[in-house]
Parts: sequence; structure tokens; C-alpha cells
Amino acid sequence: MAESAKKIKKIGVLTSGGDAPGMNAAVRSVARYAIRRGVEVMGIYEGYKGLMNGKNYIKKFNARDVSNIIDEGGTILYSARCTEFRERAGVEQAANICRELGIDGLITIGGDGTFRGAYDLSTMFGIPCIGIPGTIDNDITASDYSIGYDTAMNTTMGLIDKLRDTCESHARCNVVEVMGRNAGYIALYSAVAVGATAVAVKERPFDEDAAIKKLIQCREAGKRNFIVVVSEGANLNAEEFAKKIEAVTGTGHHEKAIETKFARFAHVVRGGSPSLRDRVTAAKMGVAAVDLLLAGRTNMFMCERRDNIIGTDIMQAIYTDRKYKASFDPDIAKKFDPSEGDKFGPEVLAEVDALIAERKAEIDYILGLSENTSNYRNIE
Ligand code: F6P
Repeated sequence: MAESAKKIKKIGVLTSGGDAPGMNAAVRSVARYAIRRGVEVMGIYEGYKGLMNGKNYIKKFNARDVSNIIDEGGTILYSARCTEFRERAGVEQAANICRELGIDGLITIGGDGTFRGAYDLSTMFGIPCIGIPGTIDNDITASDYSIGYDTAMNTTMGLIDKLRDTCESHARCNVVEVMGRNAGYIALYSAVAVGATAVAVKERPFDEDAAIKKLIQCREAGKRNFIVVVSEGANLNAEEFAKKIEAVTGTGHHEKAIETKFARFAHVVRGGSPSLRDRVTAAKMGVAAVDLLLAGRTNMFMCERRDNIIGTDIMQAIYTDRKYKASFDPDIAKKFDPSEGDKFGPEVLAEVDALIAERKAEIDYILGLSENTSNYRNIE
């Protein structure tokens, strides 16, 4: 595990990438606990972009500056996706700002892009960094959980429940596209929670004809409403699939026709007040991240594993992530170099493979759960 030698007196906290409900609770947790431990806290606005641009984007926080934000969605620190920070010059500029302002370490809250940024800052320029996973996608393979995921799933579920009401009244189907980037977690769990007839995710193939056949069989058995959930990353155009359902079943008001609407929830599920799960996870991870930074650790990020909050080496986490995603995403597979694993010992590699097997088993289990609990009339 990497360690930084310098005593930490002043830290910076930032949020980066797509915002997620609970980021504010994490900022609050970091600030309150660090101040309690006698450390000065600087709030950095607009993520790495703010860090690169310096002073006007950085403000000293006192404990009251993070009052009344625990229940707020979005991020009071704002966020940005910063392409310049992918270049060495951008990272160097940010490291120089840290040195100028006497920032001894950083806590970065966000998704995988945020961790890569933290990795570069710490390995290239020696700025100690600890990451906290904050993304609705829950797509950081090394962690069972990322802040924002629970709220986003509940928002998705609530919105689909509303669609179901109107689908039932009109005997319609609604194909719903949900966020999650290339991860199907939001789609899968909300599909189970709303009793969707079918769900499509990138991690597994989707048989369009079998899904339509199922809709037809269910309609023949008297089912009026249908929900089909499609993860935005799935290899299926959700809007086109809605049209296909109508084309195959026939439009018009005859009994077999399944009139189908399409809805894309997009960014609406990123907003809103965080759930209890997200607020409490944010509190736990914020405190644990400060503890690690003050203990001289660097280049790590907080993970939840089986209800425990632990620090994981960022390099190991990035490798785990790439290896897992390469197993179902051809674009990542093209770039993934298995020899990256050579820098780890056999124990770490076994741990990585075990975690990947766990993630795959979870996808299969939840897909199976959705299939086994949805309405189906087996006519064979
Ligand atoms: O990573 C969070 C996320 O909301 C993804 O689910 C989605 O694909 C992406 O961000 C959208 O990004 P942007 O906010 O830049 O449009």
C-alpha cells in the first residue's frame, strides 16, 4: 500500500464527473471530520477543472459551510468533466496549485474517471489522493456500492410505477431506457422491483424476438400492461425496439396489438434528495477516507465490500474494473492488456478474479430473478 511521508495539515475535497445524490453528504462528512481532527479543509469547485484553475475555484471551509446540505441532491461543489486533466500538463498544473496553496492531500469524489485523475496526481506528482465512489451507475467493479446508486434506483422505480399506472389503464407497453452508462445495475434492480416483463443490459445478450413472444403470450393470458427496461448501454436501441413491438404485434385497437410508448429517463434520475442508504454510506466513506489520508496513505479509494468500508489500491481497482468490463464490452476489450496484471502478485490476481466472478454471478442472479418473477404463461 502506498504511503505519503508528509504530515497532512490541509486537505482539499472535490466532486467530479456525473453528479450523484449523496455527494453533498460525502463532502459534509469529509469536511466535518477533518476539521474535528484539526485539519484545514478547502472546498474545490468544479472538480479537476477548478483544481487546475486555482484560487477562484477554491475556498476554505469551516464546519458551518457544509450545514444543511446532507439532504440536498447535486453537489454544492459543482462538477465538470475535464478533458484537459487527461493530459499530463493538466495534471501538473493541478499539482502546482496544490503546492502553491499548501494542500497536502486530496479527497476526490466521483466515478472511474475521477479515480484515474487521482491516480495520475499521486503517481506523477506525489499529491496524496484518496477517492470516494460517487456515481449512480454503481459501475466501479472493486466496490459493491457507490454513493448515489440507491437513490437513482428508487427514483427509477418510482417513475416506472407511474408509467405502469397509465399502461394498465390503456393496456399499453412502455419501453423505458434508464441511465447507467455501460453498467446494467440500475436497469436490472429496477426491473425486478417493478416486475418488468423484460430487461436488456450490456452485460448479457438480449433476444428481441423472445421478448416480443413473451409479451404476446402474456397478452393472450390477459395481461394489460407491460414494462420493458433497457439500460442505456445495452446493445439494443430502446426507441426502435418500442416501434418493433408495435410492428410485430400490429397497431390499432384489436386485442393482440400491443401499443407501445417509449420513455428515456436520462438525467432526471441523477437528481433529488439522497436516500438514507446514500447518506449513511457517504458519512462512512468520508470519515474512512480522511482517516486514511491522515494515516499517510495515498492512491487508494474507498470500497464497500460485504458491508465493510475498506481502502483499495487505485491501481488494483482500475485493473479489476478493466478486466471485468473487457469481458462484455468489445471497446474496452480492444484496449485491455492482460499483461497489466503482471505487476500484481498471485494473491491480488486471485482476489481480482474472485471479485469479477462475484460481479458476473450477481448479474446472472438478478436477471434470473427478473425472469422468474415476471408474468409468464408457459404455453409449451
Ligand atoms: O456516470 C453517470 C451518468 O449519469 C451515466 O449514467 C450517463 O451515461 C452519463 O453520466 C451522462 O453523462 P453527462 O451528464 O455528461 O451527460
